Amino acid sequence: MFKILFKQIGRFKAATALTPVFTALEVLMGVLIPYVTAWIIDRGVLGHDLGAVYRYGGLLLALAAVSTLMGVLAGRFSALASTGFGSNLREAMFRNIQTFSFTNIDKFSTSGLVTRMTTDVSNLQNAFQMLLRVSVRAPLNLVTSVLMCLFISKEVSLVFVVALAILGVSLFFIIRKTVRLFSQVFERYDDVNRVVQENVAAIRVVKAFVREEHENRKFGRAVEQLYRLFVRTERLQALNHPLMMLVVYGCIIAISWIGAHLVVGGTMTTGQLTSLFAYVMTIMMSLMMLSMIFVQLTMSAASARRIAEVLDERADIADPVEGAVAEVADGSIDFNDVSFTYNKEGSEMAISHIDLHIASGSMVGVMGPTGCGKSTLAALIARLYDASEGVVSVGGADVRRYRLETLRDAVSMVLQKNVLFSGTVLDNLRWGRDDATREECMKACDIACATEFVEQLPEGLDTHLEQGATNLSGGQRQRLCIARALLKRPQVLILDDSTSACDTATDAHIRRALAREVSGVTKVIVSQRLSSIVDADMIVVMESGRIVATGRHEELLEQCALYRETWEMQTQADPDFD
Ligand SMILES: Nc1ncnc2c1ncn2[C@@H]1O[C@H](COP(=O)(O)OP(=O)(O)O)[C@@H](O)[C@H]1O
Ligand SMILES: [Mg+2]
Repeated sequence: MFKILFKQIGRFKAATALTPVFTALEVLMGVLIPYVTAWIIDRGVLGHDLGAVYRYGGLLLALAAVSTLMGVLAGRFSALASTGFGSNLREAMFRNIQTFSFTNIDKFSTSGLVTRMTTDVSNLQNAFQMLLRVSVRAPLNLVTSVLMCLFISKEVSLVFVVALAILGVSLFFIIRKTVRLFSQVFERYDDVNRVVQENVAAIRVVKAFVREEHENRKFGRAVEQLYRLFVRTERLQALNHPLMMLVVYGCIIAISWIGAHLVVGGTMTTGQLTSLFAYVMTIMMSLMMLSMIFVQLTMSAASARRIAEVLDERADIADPVEGAVAEVADGSIDFNDVSFTYNKEGSEMAISHIDLHIASGSMVGVMGPTGCGKSTLAALIARLYDASEGVVSVGGADVRRYRLETLRDAVSMVLQKNVLFSGTVLDNLRWGRDDATREECMKACDIACATEFVEQLPEGLDTHLEQGATNLSGGQRQRLCIARALLKRPQVLILDDSTSACDTATDAHIRRALAREVSGVTKVIVSQRLSSIVDADMIVVMESGRIVATGRHEELLEQCALYRETWEMQTQADPDFD
């Protein structure tokens, strides 16, 4: 795990290495300061030698200046290293996520990926900075200060052994408890994040169902639990400070008592006694720091693991290693005994044992009740998922033998859940093809029946769309998505319930334009509305993941009960039933 994370330090290796070096120098200079202070007191003040005061005073200033300079450098490099590390992590995660297949994304969930890229990276970035700075400074300060104390007076150092033992044991218990509480805090954070993401993303639905109060209460509960946990951890942490003060003052009294005896006895100077007080403070502070680092690092370990998981995830749909088929020969599609399950462990098949041949250039309709596997069937053609069993072929070759780019340039798919991006209408259309001219874009809009409303937009093609194109109606979004798919000039065009939000007249319009203008392209049209597919060359009727019948409209009316019932229901009822 650490290997994959530390690889992301990348070009910030130098800054990462320099930070501990400068920190160490800062500590070494700093630790000498009390010792020089002792000289000033003993030789200058008590020795009535003003020259010595100036000499050692100068030395003191120089040490302080160098120490400060080193501290500034260390601070700068650690900031560089940690922010660099953070941005490298984000970039690497983003790059890897772009390669993810639908299966990979299903595994993490979109909101999970967002938390990992934001909160978790910030956590890890802070921990990294701490690791570089504080985890060098605290132990080094501790060790050097103890050494200085031993060097000055072995007797007095005995005091520390006792103090360290008391402090060490109590810190250990406090830390153990805090770490446990903090891990609970993080689980609660995930809860809060989930509620926020679900609700903000779906705020329109929440409003439509007047669920604001309910959602507020739900969120209130999650926040309340987080608050309680935080109060408990902070209360524990608050114990640290008084405890340390108690030990520090205890030490100072003990040192004063022993020291006074030694000074009177002539084995220790007054200056040395004062420097001992300074070292006591440093030692206790370092101990506190160490305990803090420990808590911080354990807290970010969870974040580190979550980030490493994303970096480590391999896309399960990839280009063939060698011998890729260079181009898609034609628009024919074949399913050979294809089964597919979303959940690899389970045996629940979304579609099973599909055998289907679609001739190049034909128009095929797919119908069946919700959840019967229509979208799944369509997704397998564009290799959004890989078949669990059997082979899906396009243009006579297994889809797995094409490079993904080759295949997806040839197979253009309008997903059931359409997404437009923030940007102008033109930008969105050009997702289909970067170099499409305005005329080509308008032509595609013509076929998709989008011209009329695009021209009515305040700035036509250059109108800005909000994220998710919420300033357009559902039917308008669908039409733009169809136009975008057409601009690819595909050999296979798949429309998965892509006109469900358009009225029947528009739907018929689009269908006629498609038949007229994009001939020679294989069209697979998934639709609940039979009027959209009546004149298809072949209609596939699905039920519970299986094909129950195929044929033309008239044949199916005679042979397939499901088809006949659906047809009768839809023609009797209002044609605009949805
Ligand atoms: N991303 C997914 N993860 C797990 N199960 C899924 C996913 N998408 C669809 N399913 C399941 O697969 C089955 C077929 O779904 P789908 O092909 O979307 O049906 P349709 O398009 O005909 O309504 C359904 O039972 C559905 O619950
Ligand atoms: Mg569907």
